[in-house]
Amino acid sequence: MPRLVIVSNRVALPRQTSTGGLGSAMHAATREQGGLWFGWSGKLAEHSGAVLHRQQHEQVDYVTMDLSRTDHDQYYAGFANRALWPLFHYRAGLVEYRRANMEGYLRVNELFADRLLPLLQPDDTIWVHDYHLIPLGALLRQRGVANRIGFFLHTPLPAAGLLIALPRHQELLGSLASYHLVGLHTERDQRALDDYFLHEAGARRLADGRLQDAAGACFRTRAFPISIDTGKVARQAERASRGLKIRQLRDSLGTRALVIGVDRLDYSKGLPERFKAYGRLLDRQAGLRKQVSFLQIAPHSRDTVPEYRQLRHQLERSAGHINGRYAEPDWTPISYVNRSFPHQLLTGYYRVARVGLVTPLRDGMNLVAKEYIASQDALDPGVLVLSRFAGAAQELDSALLVNPSDTEEVTEALETALSMPLQERQRRWRPMYEHLCRYDVNYWCKDFLDTLRQQPTGAIAPA
Ligand code: UDP
Ligand code: G6P
Repeated sequence: MPRLVIVSNRVALPRQTSTGGLGSAMHAATREQGGLWFGWSGKLAEHSGAVLHRQQHEQVDYVTMDLSRTDHDQYYAGFANRALWPLFHYRAGLVEYRRANMEGYLRVNELFADRLLPLLQPDDTIWVHDYHLIPLGALLRQRGVANRIGFFLHTPLPAAGLLIALPRHQELLGSLASYHLVGLHTERDQRALDDYFLHEAGARRLADGRLQDAAGACFRTRAFPISIDTGKVARQAERASRGLKIRQLRDSLGTRALVIGVDRLDYSKGLPERFKAYGRLLDRQAGLRKQVSFLQIAPHSRDTVPEYRQLRHQLERSAGHINGRYAEPDWTPISYVNRSFPHQLLTGYYRVARVGLVTPLRDGMNLVAKEYIASQDALDPGVLVLSRFAGAAQELDSALLVNPSDTEEVTEALETALSMPLQERQRRWRPMYEHLCRYDVNYWCKDFLDTLRQQPTGAIAPA
């Protein structure tokens, strides 16, 4: 079996709590496959990539490099997280395009290619991840790499009409044609990419379903819904629920129902809207006060980006407002926590929670929704309230699906969830759990790599 080389900006290093779907999924996938995982160390240094840090853990070689402050600010905070992230999440109004940032983004992608090149072997399968590294495949091709290279986008992708608002979109998105396979979470995302290539980039569809761009490069696009290690999450949740921390939580709740939200503190997650819907529930249903508690875990994310700092302040005000208005000496309506929690402990919290509240305005997939389902007790499962605009809604269709911008609808879904009889909870939960057992992260990983390894080689034109 050829060695697997994973390349991503964020690397889930052993023994570190990582808060992001990419980290969680690839952590699970590499444990099965082994191989090399290359990326940013998460640290700053005077010069980017001056030294490579190496460590080995359970069949995986982790190789990371530091970035300089300027590279971090332009490539990561600037272009990836102030231009691509908002654009790909349909938030064109938040896009802050600066030419210097795009230059920095391309420069760091060149650096990734240069530092990775000596580590590669001729029959490696290379798998590049996410919006930080879109041009990497083309840059490796320019350096003579002929290996199979696949790319997976962990975010949604909006329609071509929005994508063309990005300056130099042809150069950036066009470079995706250098991969053999481009994977996206949902068919909607795949359609958006196909439309972009067919209608904005002069590509045509080949008889075998692949696309061929104007320069002759052939590549396949396909939806591969990412998932979780369902069996492992279920076992962890069961074990965690017997641990001290979870017993303490149960004791502190008494007969009160717990509603849980777990999200990086990100404007794509719909947190202000969610807080508003919960506040409205307490307002409308005085009888529910003291009968329900909302735990929102929201670790800080991308603190150097101004929009994230603004969101932090907004949420602090909003949580303070709800507690100030409704709290009693013996009841706190909302516990709003900005720390990250170890994965295993989270699964215990999910299991205790009567409602999983997952209401992003847009999300590529949303693994928290899947983890919530996998963590439930079959005899007494909770209810998932899920945004229609999370990729996960395509699969978890017996959740209570809501439009997160419709506060009334979210409030009503909370009311329904909190009063749902056991039989209906079981009827909704069972097919979702069975689906996740079948389509877990190992299935996702194998499906992508098998498809990549089936793609014809040799037809890729150099960029
Ligand atoms: N996560 C975690 N600890 C936390 C918060 C989140 O381990 O305190 C994990 C969570 O369990 C999930 C991932 O981070 O596996 C978040 O992935 P998701 O797809 O929901 O959202 P993303 O952060 O990728 O946008
Ligand atoms: C999302 C992105 C990942 C990213 C993660 C955490 O899941 O798709 O690429 O790693 O968020 O964000 P961060 O900026 O901390 O890496």
